[in-house]
Amino acid sequence: MATYLVTGGAGFIGSHVVEVLLTRGDAVRVVDNLSTGHRDNMAHLSDCDMTIGDLVDPAVADEVARGVDYVVHLAALPSVPRSVSDPLSSNHANVTATLNLLEASRRHAVKRVVFASSSAVYGNVPTLPKHEDAVPAPLSPYALQKLIGEQYCRLYFELYGLDTVSVRYFNVFGPRQDPSSPYSSVIALFARSVIERRAPTIYGDGEQTRDFTYVQDVVEGTLKACLATGASGQVINVACGTRVSLNDLLATMCRLSGSSMLDTEVGEPRPGDVRDSQADITRARTLLDFEPAVCLEEGLRQTLDWYRS
Ligand code: NAD
Ligand code: UD1
Repeated sequence: MATYLVTGGAGFIGSHVVEVLLTRGDAVRVVDNLSTGHRDNMAHLSDCDMTIGDLVDPAVADEVARGVDYVVHLAALPSVPRSVSDPLSSNHANVTATLNLLEASRRHAVKRVVFASSSAVYGNVPTLPKHEDAVPAPLSPYALQKLIGEQYCRLYFELYGLDTVSVRYFNVFGPRQDPSSPYSSVIALFARSVIERRAPTIYGDGEQTRDFTYVQDVVEGTLKACLATGASGQVINVACGTRVSLNDLLATMCRLSGSSMLDTEVGEPRPGDVRDSQADITRARTLLDFEPAVCLEEGLRQTLDWYRS
């Protein structure tokens, strides 16, 4: 049994990570400031040591990292458009908090920090699928902040010997993803529209593509990244390795709900939006023995069921 600190554990992905860790018998501490996360996400998870606190405060980072074996660092403000309209708040949550946590982890001799980075760091690199060796080209403050987080992780590994791994998630979806904010992710917003038979908004022509990855697979890749030998200091894509356009995604969600295609509202393309996204997952297969297990349709079915209930 090991002790894990899950930052952002009251969020969407964090609550699933906590659930799996508790199920397999590990000790779990969570820190979350509830800025985008919810206590409800953790209501079914007892035996978890929960700190409500902001990692932007170095004292909070120091307190929660004490006595921890592994850190899964998910706390962040994860929205691209939010970072475009308010880059400073995003920077505090995505960069300052990350640096505080790395510093605290170094001080308390944590065995490994796994950092949740993003495919956003690639921007519109010309080659698909996107490989970790591509030169990053961030298009938004959020993307740049994630790249800075990765670089701090690399530096802490090389300079101080703190073991770090950055996992680049692509577009994660599944139960407990918050559909209530204008900054919510597209599948959460589409699910609500499909269930309520309301026209969703599509920004641009809807032909942009994403590598949608079911949350269970992301948890699997993340927890393997905590323990895999040979992953130290690395950046690793964690995704499905496929891509689908938003238009096809919406059509699939309507079909799975047994309803006809919805009318859509068209919005201006979002500044900072990536056009196409698809991961090369060779490195995850090699270093993490990672294999996505849930296909898009099956994940969407489970997600729609959850939103309906
Ligand atoms: P989420 O918003 O549901 O979870 C983030 C959590 O971090 C929330 O509970 C929030 O309250 C907490 N938090 C934010 N700032 C904090 C701070 N300063 N101190 C303490 N807690 C703080 O988002 P998510 O979708 O679960 O994303 C988790 C991580 O994965 C993020 O780092 C995000 O950038 C990354 N990621 C997500 C996706 C995706 O598609 N969801 C893709 C790539 C990367
Ligand atoms: C998402 C994640 C981000 C992550 C990145 C990795 C969220 C909120 N964002 O960003 O944390 O790092 O994946 O790839 O979890 N769109 C619509 N209509 C809507 C909402 C969105 O057309 O109502 C479009 C967007 O313009 C974009 C696509 O759908 O083209 C995906 O948007 P979104 O779900 O916000 O995710 P990303 O910006 O890709």
